[in-house]
Amino acid sequence: MKTYKVAELLLSEDFHKEVKVNGWVKSFRANRFIALNDGSTIKTIQCVVDFEKMDAALLNKVTLGAAISVIGNIVESQGSGQRVEIQVNQIHVYGEANPDEVSKTVLQPKRHSLEFLREQAHLRPRTNTFGAITRVRSALAFAVHEYFQKNGFYYINTPIITGSDAEGAGEMFRVTTLDPSNPPKDEHGQIDYKEDFFGKETNLTVSGQLEAEVFAMSLGQVYTFGPTFRAENSNTSRHLAEFWMIEPEVAFCELDGNMDLAEDFIKYVVNYALSNCEEDLHFLEERLLNEEKSKPQTERSEIALMEKLRFVTENNFKRVSYTEAIEILKNSKPNKKKKFKYLIEAWGADLQSEHERYLVEKHFKCPVILFDYPASIKAFYMRLNEDGKTVRAMDILFPGIGEIVGGSQREERFEVLREKMAALDIPEEELWWYLDLRKFGTAPHSGFGLGFERLVQFVTGMGNIRDVIAFPRTPKNAEF
Ligand code: 4AD
Ligand code: MG
Repeated sequence: MKTYKVAELLLSEDFHKEVKVNGWVKSFRANRFIALNDGSTIKTIQCVVDFEKMDAALLNKVTLGAAISVIGNIVESQGSGQRVEIQVNQIHVYGEANPDEVSKTVLQPKRHSLEFLREQAHLRPRTNTFGAITRVRSALAFAVHEYFQKNGFYYINTPIITGSDAEGAGEMFRVTTLDPSNPPKDEHGQIDYKEDFFGKETNLTVSGQLEAEVFAMSLGQVYTFGPTFRAENSNTSRHLAEFWMIEPEVAFCELDGNMDLAEDFIKYVVNYALSNCEEDLHFLEERLLNEEKSKPQTERSEIALMEKLRFVTENNFKRVSYTEAIEILKNSKPNKKKKFKYLIEAWGADLQSEHERYLVEKHFKCPVILFDYPASIKAFYMRLNEDGKTVRAMDILFPGIGEIVGGSQREERFEVLREKMAALDIPEEELWWYLDLRKFGTAPHSGFGLGFERLVQFVTGMGNIRDVIAFPRTPKNAEF
């Protein structure tokens, strides 16, 4: 007998057919109605038991959280709220779940805080909220590949252990084979980290960009989609120590083309979620609306989740230069409630998240692409503009999220790049291959990095980045 998924059965028209379905018990009411979920949908299928014909000892094992299989006939449901149900003929219990223990865990119907659920890593995916997020995340990952594959990009895998610091920010996790009890020492008696990885100083990658550039300069259009690591000790709702990044890189492409690509790509994947994850997004939207109701009237958001997503897919992102943004911020009035201090000191300063939020949420009220940043606050590889002080960088800022994309046109001129590296004390011996790439048929090229979890956060409306990844890695969270 074929085993069906709950999602399939809910759409079935094959009334009276006998089917088998596996899953976990979400509730068992009146010794008669089992609500069964198998992860294929946020919904449950109702399995109706004739308890007089069933073994009472077996039914005692059908408790919240238990893993069971049901064989029964598909029938039209008498109750409201569902079209079909299963008239149960047989039940098999695979794994019991102790009701007393279960009631202390996430599986009890009462809602738990998201913080509490993070500590129940093994049971968190059984909740409606995390189940929905996981399905949306998976659909978005598929859409990412679909977009690039349809548009002539090749998927490449860049190394996770690397000798280079792509961002030059020094926020790297060291990878070492040193024996801590007997580390090699240099002539001054200090630990010789040059011996780290069988003789080479290495770290976990912060970005696959530099390696992606190598492939873009031969295959034309490539993208990476993999884990990246940042050893920054930031405890915010937007930062993880381990996150997934999508990094396209395109030859013969300048900054304008890069902005077009990023905007088109984001619209595509958000649209994909809207068309393919309706049930889950609807559930997440309801969840957010309930959350809003508990806030004071003045702080409630009026826009529902799916409307917010549709807005992004249907409207142009606003493109603004860093210099224009500074003028806007200089002329802004600080918020009376002092929640934001919009004012920025001077041209050249890096934007803080409150400045970004002001531009996106208060001033433009739509996604914003900021470009042409001061060279001094951006990475060494960005293409210097003719003014000699700004670089062809772009950041995409999203409402409620802040920076979702960071990218740039790359410095393709050998001498200019060499001077820039020298000025920043970046040793040529470490990046000789990157510099050399500019000697053999160099060309303008561009790319960007999109933080996948920030995208999932935007699409699911989740406030904390820890709630959109299965096992979040943050300074205080690496137990399991
Ligand atoms: O702006 P970033 O640091 O840019 C780069 O790494 C470039 N090499 C990308 C490129 O041009 N190929 O990071 C890119 C994006 C950010 O905009 C943000 O969405 C995400 O990665 N990101 C993080 N997400 C979660 N936790 C963190 N600690 C993140 N740091 C960056
Ligand atoms: Mg950035």
